[in-house]
Amino acid sequence: MVSEEEIRARLEQAGQSHLLRFWDELEPAGRASLLSELALLDPNELREHCQRAAAACAQEQGPLERLDSRMQPVQPEFLGSVRKSDPQTLQRWEEEGFHQIAQNKVAVLLLAGGQGTRLGVTYPKGMYQVGLPSGKTLYELQAERIRRVEQLAGHRHNTHCIVPWYIMTSEFTLKPTVEFFKENNFFHLDPANVIMFEQRMLPAVNFNGEVILERKDKVAMAPDGNGGLYRAIVDNGILEDMERRGVEYVHVYCVDNILVKMADPVFIGFCVLKDADCGAKVVEKAYPTEPVGVVCQVDGIYQVVEYSEVDLETIQRRDESGNLVFNAGNICNHFFTRSFLQTITREFEPLLKQHIAIKKVPFVDEDGNLVKPLKPNGIKMEKFVFDVFQFSKNFVAFEVLREEEFSPLKNADTANKDNPTTARFLDENGIRIPEQPSTLGTENPPVLCEISPLVSYFGEGLEVYLKDEEIHSPFILDEKKAKLLEKA
Ligand code: UD1
Repeated sequence: MVSEEEIRARLEQAGQSHLLRFWDELEPAGRASLLSELALLDPNELREHCQRAAAACAQEQGPLERLDSRMQPVQPEFLGSVRKSDPQTLQRWEEEGFHQIAQNKVAVLLLAGGQGTRLGVTYPKGMYQVGLPSGKTLYELQAERIRRVEQLAGHRHNTHCIVPWYIMTSEFTLKPTVEFFKENNFFHLDPANVIMFEQRMLPAVNFNGEVILERKDKVAMAPDGNGGLYRAIVDNGILEDMERRGVEYVHVYCVDNILVKMADPVFIGFCVLKDADCGAKVVEKAYPTEPVGVVCQVDGIYQVVEYSEVDLETIQRRDESGNLVFNAGNICNHFFTRSFLQTITREFEPLLKQHIAIKKVPFVDEDGNLVKPLKPNGIKMEKFVFDVFQFSKNFVAFEVLREEEFSPLKNADTANKDNPTTARFLDENGIRIPEQPSTLGTENPPVLCEISPLVSYFGEGLEVYLKDEEIHSPFILDEKKAKLLEKA
């Protein structure tokens, strides 16, 4: 363990000596935990981090840099589209995707280090029960989709297929996520193929560039953003693990989209056949000011621009056909080759932009009282996962159907959009039933129909079960029911 003297010297070097100001009042356990927390902070990096945060914050108060005149939409030749492609083309992409999955070359990587504060839950978002009749959580749905896509690829190519599931957590989410998976027997996945790792944390800083103490014995720390992925995969040897397993392609996604298609064969196949090193799924924006990032070019280079970074006029611009010019909404579903990830970690990670978020950060005041600020008082620095697009040699975007693939859970049910109810509604209704649609009945409110991902990943094969079947709401088609229907 690093000594108190050593930590004092380091803090002095970083200009952060105030972090030990309650030292004399602390019990031995509090002292030990504060010292171990501070020991992880490199003094030079800490000094730079604080200076950068304060400078970025001062700049933020000034006029915002507008990107409007430098933006261009995604060029058509770099944009694939489910809606605009014929069935044969879609089938070719899907076959290629299954071919790669069947050779165990595809992994999925979940970004799950966020705190989920908007949803108002104190546990990791993936543990959220979205209100389906089965009571399944986001993690369970995702695990089942992995199992199903493994089965589908395995059957097609007669292989034993594994899609490893990498899960990036943070100090906030690691322990509860591990426990939840253990309690649920890893949702019948082999634990050896579920690899959890932790991203780094960074101290929150006040407007004077001083690190904030959250308690007398604890620094206010926050995860370093979903772009912390690129340091975390180095810290935890993830690329080596992928190499050992023969993984070449990685589907990275965020936790809160109930409709996420894990290792989507069509997306994977499209990216592989286009020889892309980096790709992003997009949906048409629902309305001009929808709070999603937009995939576009800035000065000819691909990136995601958040809607707050451009003028309303630009966001609302339409082409001659009446479509929004900047219409490629980012749904945080990315494709990377392992070799692209390697290049990023070796060469470009330090160049990734630091985004700043000004937040209310609870702190201890000079007298040692805990204060919950009413106004923002702290700066958190984050890197974003999509900021690597600029380093891609062959970037592609892939437009998918919102009603099939995007229903994020951002807010608690009290907010009127992107909440559990809309997500559930879409899951119940978004699945295409290939035959006998009339058997779904005409009740009002709409039929409650939940189809387990273990029975159908994207609507395939349902005719076997639904043909001639009288469906009454709520209708749950899980594995057990599917077996009964198969026999009948
Ligand atoms: C994200 C995208 C946004 C997109 C939207 C679609 C980013 C930065 N923004 O916004 O462009 O339109 O999804 O739903 O990707 N996370 C970590 N570690 C962190 C912070 C976040 O793993 O330190 C994870 C979260 O757990 C979540 C994902 O990253 O799974 C997205 O994070 P969040 O900060 O919630 O971004 P959004 O606002 O959802």
